[in-house]
Amino acid sequence: MDKSHLLQQIQQREWFYHFTLPSGESTESYLPDEARAVHDTRLQMMQSCLHAHYGEIPEATTAIDLACHQGYFSHHLSTMGHQQVTGIDARKEHIDDASLICEAMGHQNIQFQQRDVFSLTPETDGQFDTVLMFGLLYHLENPVGALRVAKSLCKQVCLVETQVGPHVSGQLDWGHYEFVKPMMGSFTVIDECHETHGPEMSTLGICLAPSTETLIWIMQKIGFSKVELLTPPKGAYEQIRFGKRVMVAGYI
Ligand SMILES: C[S@@+](CC[C@H](N)C(=O)[O-])C[C@H]1O[C@@H](n2cnc3c(N)ncnc32)[C@H](O)[C@@H]1O
Repeated sequence: MDKSHLLQQIQQREWFYHFTLPSGESTESYLPDEARAVHDTRLQMMQSCLHAHYGEIPEATTAIDLACHQGYFSHHLSTMGHQQVTGIDARKEHIDDASLICEAMGHQNIQFQQRDVFSLTPETDGQFDTVLMFGLLYHLENPVGALRVAKSLCKQVCLVETQVGPHVSGQLDWGHYEFVKPMMGSFTVIDECHETHGPEMSTLGICLAPSTETLIWIMQKIGFSKVELLTPPKGAYEQIRFGKRVMVAGYI
């Protein structure tokens, strides 16, 4: 398709993100005004964490964006200097959209695949210096398994961004009142069973959101050598400012 037709097609509809097109124009977003800052804040946090880790992104650095949706963060990973970026998402319509935007932006180094996160392995897909898992964990019934997948694909730094739930701690009787175990945290169960058609939703419907402390503990247990909760920037989107969504970095 020629470039002007492509841009026309893109401008005729609304998107999940505001993409700034090569013409300088921005795509319309269907997100309500008050929620749009979620993307800006997460982008800012991703960029400052990766800059702190890499400085300038070294040549030959690779990245994977798990649950890439329309490829907004994949696009920014490429713009920051990752040499090769892979975006995967379970929904075909997102992969088609991400590919369209990518073509309009002229990126040669991003490839998108329709994949379930649980189908990825380092043996078949390789490993990536940077792994992003934004907005996915709390749409899954097996969030620990997904974190293990992310860790297995990661060569340097893994950024996990998620909605979180309340924390539970203390001691629990474990078989007998005299046998107790400390509780390492909790997951909140959310029902998306009737919303699996939604573009941003779970594909299966049963969703488990960890508490912040639980997420950090699990990331340490599955083998990240250092795990840090990232500080929201000034003026962050309210959910991130008040710790209802968090971004955690795990380092190999
Ligand atoms: C809330 S959106 C987040 C999109 C993007 N990562 C972001 O943070 O802006 C959730 C995304 O997860 C995708 N998704 C849900 N379950 C998935 C799975 N099992 N494997 C891969 N992608 C999945 C959805 O299709 C959707 O694009």
